[in-house]
Amino acid sequence: MYEEGFRRLADELIDGFIADGEVDLQTRYAIPLPATMFMQIFGAPMEDLQFFIEMKDNILKAEGLTLEEREIEGRLSGDRLRVRLREILGERRAAGTHQDDLITKFMTWELDGHRFSDDDIVNVMHLFVIAGLDTVTSSIGCLVGWLATHPVHRQQLFDDPALIPHAVEELMRYQSPVNVGGPRWATEDFEVNGVSVKQGDMLLLGWWTANLDPAVFTDPLTVDFTREANRHAAYAAGRHRCLGSHLARLELRVAIEQFHRRVTDYSLAPGADPQYKWEGVRAPATLPIVFSARQ
Ligand code: HEM
Repeated sequence: MYEEGFRRLADELIDGFIADGEVDLQTRYAIPLPATMFMQIFGAPMEDLQFFIEMKDNILKAEGLTLEEREIEGRLSGDRLRVRLREILGERRAAGTHQDDLITKFMTWELDGHRFSDDDIVNVMHLFVIAGLDTVTSSIGCLVGWLATHPVHRQQLFDDPALIPHAVEELMRYQSPVNVGGPRWATEDFEVNGVSVKQGDMLLLGWWTANLDPAVFTDPLTVDFTREANRHAAYAAGRHRCLGSHLARLELRVAIEQFHRRVTDYSLAPGADPQYKWEGVRAPATLPIVFSARQ
């Protein structure tokens, strides 16, 4: 349903830099491509995109701050984001229009005969902005950043584009951009790998370590685009597994397919040393690459 529009948008963005032979792929492609798509599916005005990105960054990636400062910054930005989300909800209610987007669904969904309250809706909107706006951007940066420095694997995908969906899964397993989940609290005592956990203990689940578990993955530190049965946890596991994983998979596949259709090869720009942010979601701050356009 979304694929054609996403492909078109990818092509338009590529049109904007294809003649240059070099680009900061993060700024010109990995950020605007999924963010534009997200705003359309979500149903918020496009003018809010920069504000959402800024608030989301403050909440997830307040770098260079102490833990205490981060906590304060995160809460303040979360409050500012909620204020704007509540305004958007009010605007939508005042307009009285139903559109084909998530905000309409949040407003009209019924659960056991109950509609969501405005507080519930603002909370769900907040969750989607934090969970859905940044993650695909970060993942495109991680995937293309890895391919830009691994010519043999890159060539494998140019030779056989049908491998791209498998490459996406394998690189998501290997890199786990959402490396750690939100905290959970044990509801009962139990033991895991010889460690005893007591009811009420807080647990941080490291999806990236699960994805490198040699008991599950043969040779886990090797990237193998033909790996069979790649049941990774890059989109988490269990009750709070990612709600957007199908959309994310589509976007990652199409983002790489479209870029590979328009170039014959690419690599990191000479001297470039992309710095990866680790706070919240792993992503390169910038991704300067050079490429040869397909004629
Ligand atoms: C490549 C992109 C994505 C990755 C790697 C990813 C990964 C994850 C992970 C690991 C979690 C669980 C976090 C935890 O353990 O606490 C999660 C939750 C979630 N994701 Fe995603 N996500 C992606 C894209 C998206 C998109 C595009 C959307 C929405 C449009 C989305 C919506 C959500 C929501 C709503 C949750 C919370 C589910 C819950 O708490 O029950 N995600 N995601």
